Amino acid sequence: MSDIVYLNGGFMPIEEARIPVLDRGFIFGDGVYEVIPVYSRRPFRLTEHLRRLQYSLDKVRIDNPLNTDEWTRLLGEIIQRNTGDDQSVYLQITRGVAKRDHAFPKGIKPTVFMMSMPLVTPAPALVESGVACITAQDYRWLNCDIKSTSLLGNCMLRQLSVDAGAAETILFRDGQLTEASSSNVFIVRDGVVLTPPKDHLVLPGVTYDVVIEIARAREFQIEVRPVSEAEVRGADEIWVTSSTKEVLAVTTLDGKAVGDGKPGLLFRRMHALYQSFKQDHMRTAA
Ligand code: PDD
Repeated sequence: MSDIVYLNGGFMPIEEARIPVLDRGFIFGDGVYEVIPVYSRRPFRLTEHLRRLQYSLDKVRIDNPLNTDEWTRLLGEIIQRNTGDDQSVYLQITRGVAKRDHAFPKGIKPTVFMMSMPLVTPAPALVESGVACITAQDYRWLNCDIKSTSLLGNCMLRQLSVDAGAAETILFRDGQLTEASSSNVFIVRDGVVLTPPKDHLVLPGVTYDVVIEIARAREFQIEVRPVSEAEVRGADEIWVTSSTKEVLAVTTLDGKAVGDGKPGLLFRRMHALYQSFKQDHMRTAA
């Protein structure tokens, strides 16, 4: 649990943080968020997370209440005030507090909330074994590029994998791979890494971008293009990526082995490169 959180201009113990019940985040899920991984007390890919935050805010027409310097300072302070070198910082902005009415109210102040939790990345044993995933139809809305706090669809889809004892739910829409309930998805077929392009059906993952950047720099064969359900089901490897999972191999899909049922060669290479990318970042980040 977070010790000290930030809410609307002040720091306080989480037990003391309160929002009014008419906050539109509570009433409508009318807000956006970010999850920023912190390694050795340094935020990873902060510029990219703040850029995506601005994108989400623009899409839902909430004015960004803080500028980049202010976000950076606040983030530094929340990291400082919490224990643990590796943290997962959650920040959320809602449209603010107003009498319940679907239309956007004028002249209200956005609610700004930030907390930090310990960053729990996959244990080495899990990286070695890989994880089980199930699949489901992607019935979420058509604005999945917005990192919205309206996550009921994602929560319901994630719960399906919890019920099945699996780590994630991989989603298909109209016979095409989109993403997973809280991760992006890559597959490998015949030595080629494949992942769907960023569009309105997927969250533009910061980790997704890092993996593509590494793949291109290290001369993996990679194609960013629509990926069919059949291609996923017949893949040699499947990976899920997110700020907290980093890169994780999927070794069973709907109970069937993926490839030989062990994390693949390209996964092992990518996982190692991702770890060194992080190390380099920690050395060079401000
Ligand atoms: N989830 N797709 C969805 C639907 C997600 O919720 C996430 C991240 C990702 C991966 O994005 P990134 O690489 O930027 O973390 C893809 C975060 C971690 C969460 O909601 O907790």
